[in-house]
Amino acid sequence: MRTAIVTGAGQGFGLALTAALTARGTTVLATGRDAARLRSAVAAGATAVPGDVTDPDHRAELVAAARRLGGLDLLVHNAGELGPSPLPRLEDHPLDALRAVLDTTVLAPLALTQLALPLLRAAPAPAVVTLSSDAAVEAYAGWGGYGAAKAALDRLAAVLGVEEPGVAVYAFDPGDMRTAMHQRALADDDGTLPRWQRASGLSSTAASPSTSATAVPSMTSSTHCARGPPARASRSWPSTATTG
Ligand SMILES: NC(=O)c1ccc[n+]([C@@H]2O[C@H](COP(=O)([O-])OP(=O)(O)OC[C@H]3O[C@@H](n4cnc5c(N)ncnc54)[C@H](OP(=O)(O)O)[C@@H]3O)[C@@H](O)[C@H]2O)c1
Repeated sequence: MRTAIVTGAGQGFGLALTAALTARGTTVLATGRDAARLRSAVAAGATAVPGDVTDPDHRAELVAAARRLGGLDLLVHNAGELGPSPLPRLEDHPLDALRAVLDTTVLAPLALTQLALPLLRAAPAPAVVTLSSDAAVEAYAGWGGYGAAKAALDRLAAVLGVEEPGVAVYAFDPGDMRTAMHQRALADDDGTLPRWQRASGLSSTAASPSTSATAVPSMTSSTHCARGPPARASRSWPSTATTG
């Protein structure tokens, strides 16, 4: 039985991914700050471990729970923080809010990875997935704080993939999804198209998170990997031994 930790599993992409993984027979430790929200993950077959990924005690609790289950095969850093809404220009970006974005998006994933690495290294086909965004590489007005954090996370994933050749590391951009975060990002918009679609001339509509989540386990060198050199895209996860 494979074991995974999915952060931000109470809604949106994290919940869709949790449901996809449990359907394949993976034991999922689902985390998020809102315990009530995690009931949906539990209904999908996951074990809820409520808490804040920026809290060191909670990170230790998550890894201890995986250890008790016998190990860890997959760590998904999905929890994300958009920052202020409406999205501020950089000249107005509150620094405290940016620190919070960086804490959740960059420092917490690194700290959790550091704790989890001994378990991951012992797994037969371990993987780490980080959630990226086109805002990490494209300069969209208002997206400077969030985009800078995602760019930093991409860089951590790339270096981790080099430093840990036994661990498959993926930086995954799910594309636009109709989620709570998406709605917050559109708070000052006319509600038709996300600004990054308008800026880039893209015409696709936002997908449901479940569509993106279905793509995750099979991603290899597809467009779902982060732009630029993927951290490591030589393997898919789960590889062959899915039980569901
Ligand atoms: N939606 C899009 O179009 C889009 C596009 C590209 C990339 N992404 C990325 O995809 C990921 C998922 O986004 P989403 O759209 O599904 O967002 P979402 O629906 O807002 O879900 C984000 C989840 O993260 C959790 N979270 C936030 N801060 C946390 C913290 N400190 N500790 C633990 N959990 C925390 C939230 O739960 P609690 O509030 O209960 O903690 C929430 O369940 C994010 O990394 C996002 O940046 C999204």
